Amino acid sequence: MATFKRDLTKNVGVEDLIMLTEVSESSLHENLKIRYKEGLIYTSIGPVLVSMNPYKQLGIYGNDQINLYKGKHEFEIPPHIYSIADKAYRALRSEGENQCIIISGESGAGKTEASKYIMQYIASITGSSTEVERVKKTILESNPLLEAFGNAKTLRNNNSSRFGKYMEIQFNLGGDPEGGKITNYLLEKSRVINQTQGERNFHIFYQLLKGSSEEEKKTYNLLSPDQYHYLTRNASNGCFTADGIDDQIGFKQTKNAMKVVGIDEPLQKEIFATLSAILLLGNLSFNKSASGNGSVISDKKLANTIASLMGVDAIVLESSLVSRQISTGQGARISTYSVPQTVEQAMYARDAFAKATYSKLFDFIVRKINQSIEVKTIGKVIGVLDIYGFEIFENNSFEQFCINYVNETLQQIFIDLTLKTEQEEYVQEGITWIPVQYINNKACVDLIEKKPIGILSLLDEECLFPEGNDQTMIDKLNKHFSNHTHYSKVERQKNSQFIINHYAGKVFYNIDGFLDKNRDTLFNDLVTLATSSSCSLLVEIFKYVPPLEVDPEQEKKNRDKFSKNGFANNAAKTFIPTDKKRPITAGFQFKNQVTSLLKSLYSCSPHYVRCIKPNSNMRALEWDQSKCAEQVAYLGLFENLLVRRAGYCYRQTFSKFMRRYYMIGKSTWPKWSGDAEKGVNLLMGELTQEINIKEEVQYGKTKIFIRNPQPLFLLEDKRNKRLNDLATKIGSVWKMYKQRKWYLRTLAAIKIQRTYRGWLLVRECVKLKNQSISIFQNNKERNRQSIKLSKAAFIGDFLSLTRDNYTTATLKREEGPNAVLQLSLNVSKVSRHHKIQKRSLLVTNETIFTITPHKPKKDGSWFAIKRKVPFSAIEKISFSKLSDDFFVIHIINEHDLCLETNKKTVLITLLSNLYSKHLNGKELVFEFKDSIQYRNQKGPSELKFVKVDSIHEKSSNSPQANSPSFTAKAEKNYLKVCVLPGLSSESKSILIEK
Ligand SMILES: Nc1ncnc2c1ncn2[C@@H]1O[C@H](COP(=O)(O)OP(=O)(O)O)[C@@H](O)[C@H]1O
Ligand SMILES: [Mg+2]
Repeated sequence: MATFKRDLTKNVGVEDLIMLTEVSESSLHENLKIRYKEGLIYTSIGPVLVSMNPYKQLGIYGNDQINLYKGKHEFEIPPHIYSIADKAYRALRSEGENQCIIISGESGAGKTEASKYIMQYIASITGSSTEVERVKKTILESNPLLEAFGNAKTLRNNNSSRFGKYMEIQFNLGGDPEGGKITNYLLEKSRVINQTQGERNFHIFYQLLKGSSEEEKKTYNLLSPDQYHYLTRNASNGCFTADGIDDQIGFKQTKNAMKVVGIDEPLQKEIFATLSAILLLGNLSFNKSASGNGSVISDKKLANTIASLMGVDAIVLESSLVSRQISTGQGARISTYSVPQTVEQAMYARDAFAKATYSKLFDFIVRKINQSIEVKTIGKVIGVLDIYGFEIFENNSFEQFCINYVNETLQQIFIDLTLKTEQEEYVQEGITWIPVQYINNKACVDLIEKKPIGILSLLDEECLFPEGNDQTMIDKLNKHFSNHTHYSKVERQKNSQFIINHYAGKVFYNIDGFLDKNRDTLFNDLVTLATSSSCSLLVEIFKYVPPLEVDPEQEKKNRDKFSKNGFANNAAKTFIPTDKKRPITAGFQFKNQVTSLLKSLYSCSPHYVRCIKPNSNMRALEWDQSKCAEQVAYLGLFENLLVRRAGYCYRQTFSKFMRRYYMIGKSTWPKWSGDAEKGVNLLMGELTQEINIKEEVQYGKTKIFIRNPQPLFLLEDKRNKRLNDLATKIGSVWKMYKQRKWYLRTLAAIKIQRTYRGWLLVRECVKLKNQSISIFQNNKERNRQSIKLSKAAFIGDFLSLTRDNYTTATLKREEGPNAVLQLSLNVSKVSRHHKIQKRSLLVTNETIFTITPHKPKKDGSWFAIKRKVPFSAIEKISFSKLSDDFFVIHIINEHDLCLETNKKTVLITLLSNLYSKHLNGKELVFEFKDSIQYRNQKGPSELKFVKVDSIHEKSSNSPQANSPSFTAKAEKNYLKVCVLPGLSSESKSILIEK
């Protein structure tokens, strides 16, 4: 009795490759292919999602689909990107752990689209308060903006991201997005000055040129695209359009997105002027100077235009390009002289300046986005990694080296977390297991990043030598790594290549330009020029120094080791880098970013999306067998399948398994208090008719392992049916419950491994609800919204803190070893100045705590206790008679607590129970009054309630920003609360589904 109907008409092949009847590479390919041809682009391998680019709109996204996937377990529904998003979100809420979704695949495989669908899904299933909406809007709008500046048409993808991106969304304790952070990686800045034939520069340039009004064209001195060297350099007639991309509309979207992320119009103007200047820089040419080897700008008028767009002096602009200041000596003896630059050198400086300006501008835009979604506190996050996949080109340079390096490290995480850990668990549990061989690429990662002798370290070292060049570099590599399994030298006459044997295949790297790109120097003259600009944007972007994201302790250790073990080359010892002097090379910076990324990823529960690009022609539903086979191979899908196949789709400790399924066994119902393992054996023994125990089940030392999902469906169905039967028996309340299939559906949807309080919870809810009616009925008007009371609301731990270690430890410290969290929720508190402040409330068996979260510290602490009120100190709780949500907890011998929450019914009901229990049956006193007098820190104060017919203005001091049914206004000695008429105090709330 599965509760979700699959679209059986479209059940082609198998949805999960672990269900293939024949396990071979060819059947894997065949299954992907037949599904792809039917437009079924998603297939799973256990928890890993394979996604194939359909190159056409399939109508499988949007609100209807989102509703189908919301809260569903992946076993119940066909694989989908929404399913992964939902799983990550559910895990974040229920386990309270950071999650990350790692999307990989080659360029054009659909990574960025996938990441957008994930964002869309999360935005759609979360709350809608004003601030949450703002954050969501900014996160969604950041996309077109980043794409305008960071994407370009390439031969592989018309909208190819030319940077890597890790986007973290941070959630508040209620599970709504409260902010986020984008980290960008390695923008392909060489594209600014040159593109392969048939490719374009970054979209923004064409947007600016095509989308600007006549007036803007004049202001920014814009030309037509074919007049720019930087847009036509490598093509007889440049490529100015891209299929499916409208630059004029794009420009409007970009401007709009800029507004949303807080880039105002004056700043936009500076950005556009800078972009125009970058393009014009490319048109600058140089002549040999009349005297000597130097050079001069040929077109002074053009130089003037550029200088005025950049807000710099034209003469200084020229001198910074055609000469270079060199300093010698030290301290007081330092002397500086100017070295004229040749025409080639001047052109090099020009291009370097254009590239640097653009990439710094891009970083600036990312910073602006981050500022607008920055959160000061640290909460749980879902990170989505959309990063360039493996690149193997004809000519692979430093960029490919870096890209493949990050992929190599990502593959290592994948191996660690999916293949290695899983197999280790089988061994630990003593499960019969034939190990699956997989390629462990740790050695390759070491080859690249190990200190002090890895390619990146050697490269940095070589960059420190004045006489170091690409050739000395390759000699060094050959010398150190000739015996390394992942390295080969190229025996050719022109010795300019080396080979790395990556997990995805052999890649020939061309050393030309490695040192230069790694040094990434921009001559000081140009930096000085930019920072002297009257344009504040240029000053800001050139002055900005990125923080080094290394752990200082670790870095110190590395340094110590570095100086102890010495350099690979002794002569370099004099260049031992110290903290500040160490030149920050591109490789060093990238490695830093990768290290910090890995740190983030390892602190998350990972989810994987492996994207496949089915053909190179961007053609809908076309399947290129050899291309696909190549990708399947290097994404490691087959090994992944082998481990999953040989492995078990479900594992759970005996005790947790019993807690979930005890009610379906004749011998374990109604209560099993014996040994959990024995219980599991008994229970499963009753199912031998339906489940082939021998084939499907193994018992480990502490866990049960089930091989396929089908027996799990059976267990779940039996459980649902059993709960349903029990419900029928329990009487009339349950009739309603029985009609409400949603509850069964929710139950089935909860991740199977998780313990769940099942039907007991429902019974508890009904009891509590009746109790809440007895407290409020005839005393207080009902809030129109609160009539929709959901059963789930009675669980009480709204902030999911039961399993939060720090919360548990803090409560135990404050209250003793028996402290148990009973309730957690967010409230508003009225301050002594009658302002609304955010607090969270924790309630144990004997105490109420108010807390405020802060940035987590090293010791794991993430909140501070503001107030501690033992139940015994509570005198009474007062409410108004109207439909507002304020209440005051009056405290003996102390100032009172004036609070507000739309969950007051649950809070008060549970609190009154806990109170009576703790104080031996004493009843908590409630008062309902027209106005409430109380004491705050300053002295006597008051809550005055006024019934009004309509609420005109939105009060900033109102706790419920969204369609409030009451507002609050701070007066000198009291808080005035205006309340709309509610429902009669005699009305009852009903239980409805949520
Ligand atoms: N799920 C999808 N449905 C329809 N078209 C898609 C989908 N995924 C990708 N595409 C198409 O493929 C193009 C390239 O996808 P993109 O996500 O930019 O690739 P990547 O980021 O991996 O380089 C998109 O512009 C879009 O036209
Ligand atoms: Mg992309």
